[in-house]
Amino acid sequence: MWPFGEGEDFLENQWYVAAWSSEVTSDQPFERWICGQPVVFYRDPEGKAIALHGRCPHRNFPLGKARVRGNVLECGYHGFQFGPDGNCVRIPSQDTIPDVCRAPAYVLVEKWEWLWIWVGDPTRANPDWIPDHNEIRLTEPGWFAVPATTNHLNGRAQLLHENLTDISHLSYLHPGTIGTDSVAATQVEITKHDGFLRGLRMISNEKLTGFFKDALGTEGPLDREVLIDFYPPNLHVAREKFIEPGGETIAQYRVCHAVTPATTTSTNYLVAWTRTFARDSQEITDTVNSVFAAIIDEDVNAVEAVENMISGQQQPLEVLVAADTHSMRARRIMKKLFADQSASAVDRAPRQ
Ligand code: FES
Ligand SMILES: [Fe+2]
Repeated sequence: MWPFGEGEDFLENQWYVAAWSSEVTSDQPFERWICGQPVVFYRDPEGKAIALHGRCPHRNFPLGKARVRGNVLECGYHGFQFGPDGNCVRIPSQDTIPDVCRAPAYVLVEKWEWLWIWVGDPTRANPDWIPDHNEIRLTEPGWFAVPATTNHLNGRAQLLHENLTDISHLSYLHPGTIGTDSVAATQVEITKHDGFLRGLRMISNEKLTGFFKDALGTEGPLDREVLIDFYPPNLHVAREKFIEPGGETIAQYRVCHAVTPATTTSTNYLVAWTRTFARDSQEITDTVNSVFAAIIDEDVNAVEAVENMISGQQQPLEVLVAADTHSMRARRIMKKLFADQSASAVDRAPRQ
């Protein structure tokens, strides 16, 4: 699907943020679509999170409407039961259980407040490839991390990737909060690093207004270092430093944007953030949460509006300008990942 090739809809051999830890309980199952697959989550009595394919193999009932019975899931239609490995362990009307009667299990890793899922070949799932939570400051001492919002947007994931790597929109889509004129007017410097693509803007000597002035308790002027790192294909980490003219950093925050395809034209979008300032202030947490919720609504609405506009078009036209360089670099990285996936699928195809 555009902007990729036909059939290039999902990168499967990758980790994605599936859910917040708090969304998955042992009381009832929880369903979320990921990479075109229904996935059902629950916890066993020891609290271990489990993810199974969310379609009952018997008659296609959603296992999101099943019941949790100890460590098994019981389908809410005819009572077939499935264990944590996905094998059917009980069919009420017979003793024999066909081998094909399974709801395959996914590899799931719980880290910080996130459940990371691998929807591809389980033998290739390497937890070391999950971005380092300490490095992105979700677990590092001195930073205070907050689970913020969960969003489901009706737009393809790539539109959100290109929104997040296009900081020039801040001034126009979020003018009342994080988008000052200087953001769009400042040149972006793009660099490729091991595992991520970085866009950097240095804004000099800016007077703070509104949200930042209130949150930091000063109007400056300060220098601002605004970075966004794209860890393809699943995570963006926006970072901002506020620096006094003498060079001392007085505050930093980061926003982690987890982008998980749901279907070809819808996306799960989970946002967490972490800060170094006012770490004990519930008031600041509440203020930032409400500001971020408003900003994310603006992004979700923009992506959905673009999806509506291009929906059904094979090759929508675009006039790209210098400010799109970062997004287009991100698009090229994704194209390469799709090409690699297609090539390895060809390698695996049975020879005629
Ligand atoms: S559809 Fe699940 S048991 Fe029949
Ligand atoms: Fe935005």
